[in-house]
Amino acid sequence: MRFYIITAMVTVVLLIISISYRFDVWNSKDLPYDDEQVGLDDQIVINFSHVVAENTPKGLAVIKFAELVKEKSDGKIIVQIYPNGILYNDVNELAALKQGDIQMIAPTISKMTKALPSWQVLDLPFIFENDEQIYEVLHGELSETLLRELDNINVHGLTFWHNGFKQMASNLTPLLEVEHFKGVTVRIMPSDILKEQFTLLKAKPIVTTFNDLYAAIQNNEIFAQENTLSNLYSKGYYSMQPSITLSNHGILAYGVMMNSDFWKSLTDEQQQIIQDSLDEMQRWQHDQAVAINAENFQQLKTNEDIQFYTFSEIQRRQWMEALQPIYNSYEKLGNKDFLTQLRKEIQDAK
Ligand code: LMR
Repeated sequence: MRFYIITAMVTVVLLIISISYRFDVWNSKDLPYDDEQVGLDDQIVINFSHVVAENTPKGLAVIKFAELVKEKSDGKIIVQIYPNGILYNDVNELAALKQGDIQMIAPTISKMTKALPSWQVLDLPFIFENDEQIYEVLHGELSETLLRELDNINVHGLTFWHNGFKQMASNLTPLLEVEHFKGVTVRIMPSDILKEQFTLLKAKPIVTTFNDLYAAIQNNEIFAQENTLSNLYSKGYYSMQPSITLSNHGILAYGVMMNSDFWKSLTDEQQQIIQDSLDEMQRWQHDQAVAINAENFQQLKTNEDIQFYTFSEIQRRQWMEALQPIYNSYEKLGNKDFLTQLRKEIQDAK
């Protein structure tokens, strides 16, 4: 009996020693100095999720933002980037932001229009004529008002970023004339304006997330899409949809936003660092977006399988006439003032 008690006690002691050794209990006070760990307690991490590739206007903007914030905060604010929809996609990123699972997103304006119908004003077709007008509007008075609308859904709006003009890509014959759209399945982002746009052209609009689009085209569920050249290029959509009409019929821009509670938890100085970083990169971001789309255009032009088409003046007018009822729909939402303000800002930018 005595033998068993002693054996049990020795086993317990050995077990305690072995566990202590395994977890390094004895040496825990003597950890070697590691400068990477210093200040970790007061480091702030912003998880930024987005759906596009890194070599795109948005992908590069997030990287630049992360660099600026890190530099201005002496490494105290770190932006952790999750590109290509690896964390969240179009459908769930806003909910994840609101729940605080991530701290920042930059969705395309169209994807915000269900939550904020007034944002549809930037989805209206044939409003902008050049990139400079877009710059002025995205950083003008109207854009400030639209960003403040985010307060209504408990999200903090920070700024807008540019991508470029949308073009029509299809794996059928070119989509040039209004009749060419009849019965064609066109992928759209979730936006009533975009739905009406393609319904008026007698096409069949289908909502698909950006990350599901490739498979949907491959499975012959989608025959056409509207997107910027940088998105068509970076995801390789052009290989399946090689007929590209340079229609410039709408714009693709991003609202840059943060979880409201997270924003409020930051000190004035930290908030200033974030806002200053975005302000500092504003012009750079816009010019970068224009340059990337131009560069991707040149790259696509070297591919013999891709056919580019441009409107004749008559074709452009046909589209505009067919899409005219959209403006009435937007005004019926009671947002006439936003459209008037948009037109004024575009006029002033000319
Ligand atoms: C799309 O879904 O086509 C775009 O919104 C993707 C993006 O974020 O540029």
